[in-house]
Amino acid sequence: MNNVDELIQQAATAFEAAVDGAQLEQAKARFLGKAGSLTEQLKGLGKLPPEERRAAGAEINRAKDAIEALLEARREALRAARLLAQLSAEALDVTLPGRGTGRGGLHPVSLTLERVEALFRSIGFVVADGPEIETDWHNFTALNTPDNHPARSMHDTFYLEGRDDVLLRTHTSPVQIRAMLAHVERHAQAAVMPDVRVIAPGRVYRVDSDATHSPMFHQVEGLWVGEGVSFADLKGVVADFLRKFFESDDLQVRFRPSFFPFTEPSAEIDVAFMSGALEGKWLEIAGCGMVHPNVLRFGGIDPERYTGFAFGMGLDRLAMLRYGINDLRLFFESELRFLTQFR
Ligand code: DAH
Repeated sequence: MNNVDELIQQAATAFEAAVDGAQLEQAKARFLGKAGSLTEQLKGLGKLPPEERRAAGAEINRAKDAIEALLEARREALRAARLLAQLSAEALDVTLPGRGTGRGGLHPVSLTLERVEALFRSIGFVVADGPEIETDWHNFTALNTPDNHPARSMHDTFYLEGRDDVLLRTHTSPVQIRAMLAHVERHAQAAVMPDVRVIAPGRVYRVDSDATHSPMFHQVEGLWVGEGVSFADLKGVVADFLRKFFESDDLQVRFRPSFFPFTEPSAEIDVAFMSGALEGKWLEIAGCGMVHPNVLRFGGIDPERYTGFAFGMGLDRLAMLRYGINDLRLFFESELRFLTQFR
């Protein structure tokens, strides 16, 4: 019966033409449904002479099996195509950057700190640090500030409850002592002690709060101790640093006599810009001086042989001047409109 092969061929063509499940079910009905071609053929069996029925029935069953197999294959093909279409429609590019996630950036005080460190590293300084909870001895005594000194008053220092031997450090100067003691120990066997050359940036604390003072602020301490280190070296190093830091060759730098217990002589460092909003105005930027012999001794260094200079600068102050910021509180408010300007 090539009638049957023709039927199979027709079904194959019809199934192939169906582009979705609904069309395929319609095509299926045309062959296998109640009024489908195959069903019609089955009905016709009864009219055949008995000797032909068996062979004809077998042929119809062959056609049915073949058509059902074709149907299943087409169903499977349509399913696969649907899945593929869905996958490509919902494709996710995992390499795309996320939406609405702003890139972070460094805080202006951190940027300033990095700049200070880079400039001092370039002339051979190393970066040292010390604890923010400091001993009374490092913060005061070893810095030639005896027990009854006014700087120890409860009014400007945060002490820890129930302890009077530790406090939140009021300046980065105690790192001078730690750095000298560590340096002396490290070079104990050396015939000649190399120079101490450190800067120590970090947080410091004082009971003080208004538009230009906050209870926590940042300082950078500097210390250079060696044979023959003089006040002229101090002036050269600091003035050179400030001109590079502010990228201003005509920056005016002034050393104004002052007093600190840990230096002798002591000075206040002022700068004046020759252009811009602050033109011609002297601004105090650091304290400095020649390290007091008592301080060298507390650091384990012989003041008869070695001399040194030290300075302490306000890092927040440096950042404000460099970026033209007029209110210290902006540094602590986490206001993105302010912070994103420094990215
Ligand atoms: N420690 C001082 C302060 O916080 C600043 C200072 C002055 C540091 C003179 C020094 C220095 O190293 O030599 O006010």
